[in-house]
Amino acid sequence: MFVSLEEAQHLLSTGHVVGVPTETVYGLAASLKHPEAIDQIFKLKGRPANNPLIIHAANNQAILPYIQTLSQEFLSLADSFWPGPMTIVTNIVENQIPEIARAGLPTAAFRVPAHPLTQELLHAVGPLVMPSANISGRPSSTKASHVETDFGKAFPVLDGGACQRGVESTILFHSKGCFQIIRQGALTAEDFGCVLGYNPEIVAKNVNSQEAPLCPGQQYRHYAPKARLILSTKPSQETGTLIIGFSDRRYPGFSRCLSFGLSTKPHDAAQNLYSLLRLLDEEDIAEAWIDIDFPKNGLWTTIFERLERASQ
Ligand code: TXA
Ligand code: MG
Repeated sequence: MFVSLEEAQHLLSTGHVVGVPTETVYGLAASLKHPEAIDQIFKLKGRPANNPLIIHAANNQAILPYIQTLSQEFLSLADSFWPGPMTIVTNIVENQIPEIARAGLPTAAFRVPAHPLTQELLHAVGPLVMPSANISGRPSSTKASHVETDFGKAFPVLDGGACQRGVESTILFHSKGCFQIIRQGALTAEDFGCVLGYNPEIVAKNVNSQEAPLCPGQQYRHYAPKARLILSTKPSQETGTLIIGFSDRRYPGFSRCLSFGLSTKPHDAAQNLYSLLRLLDEEDIAEAWIDIDFPKNGLWTTIFERLERASQ
């Protein structure tokens, strides 16, 4: 059920969960003041309780009181990339964030989203936790209709149009004197390099596998449609099936082609990615080939990581 901005504000401030647009993907939002609504998010998504949520705030000032030790680098990143698709995991002041939102960790993840409707909501209601608005493990939602598909027609969604970025925020974590990327996303290592003076390393796991994962969500299956995905850099020799590829290429032998857009435009591919994966489910498609003949740098690395996980 599509709701107005005023209805969304009312629902959130009275302890309900609402589907909310951001510039990356749609989120399932609950107010930080309502732990029972946060609990409801875990139930709705089927999300493991040990997977913490990102806290979204209207601006940098609204985040600073939660943070234990502020560094100059943190402030430079915040000034350069917020509002925007960057999330930072940091140590927090005790007893400020409900335990359920941070899954009992001594840290929390923060982001200032850029979507104008989300901004209005955050100014009116205060900080919101927002995981991506999908059933755990499935492709994220980049349109209001995707949220309805996963949570039903009666579920309240604020329609903010198609998400501009199409992939989630990049998550940064500070360790041993420098920032690391613990989840790739809409901003690249090179983007941060311009501010930090070094490109943060992309780390998938703790080197010591006995330790807890740096980013708990990364240990679970993700972004996957029901269809079997076959990633290939030379898909043209295959026959008879569907391919997700690029509009400036030909795929002889395939009966149908769905398009990421031009092979020179990673932003378009990111924007279309989850819609395409969801389309496979909507049409009950059992198998799809994916053309992964694209550069392995910049935003393409995020797209490749999402496709790899979706195909596992
Ligand atoms: O773009 C985004 O980030 C979207 C939109 C809605 O803002 N949100 C999003 O949330 O992707 P979610 O819950 O789908 O992914 C958040 C990731 C999870 O993998 C979680 O484990 C990680 O952030 N995370 C949250 N708090 C953390 C913490 N304290 N330490 C390490 N990782 C954390
Ligand atoms: Mg997610």
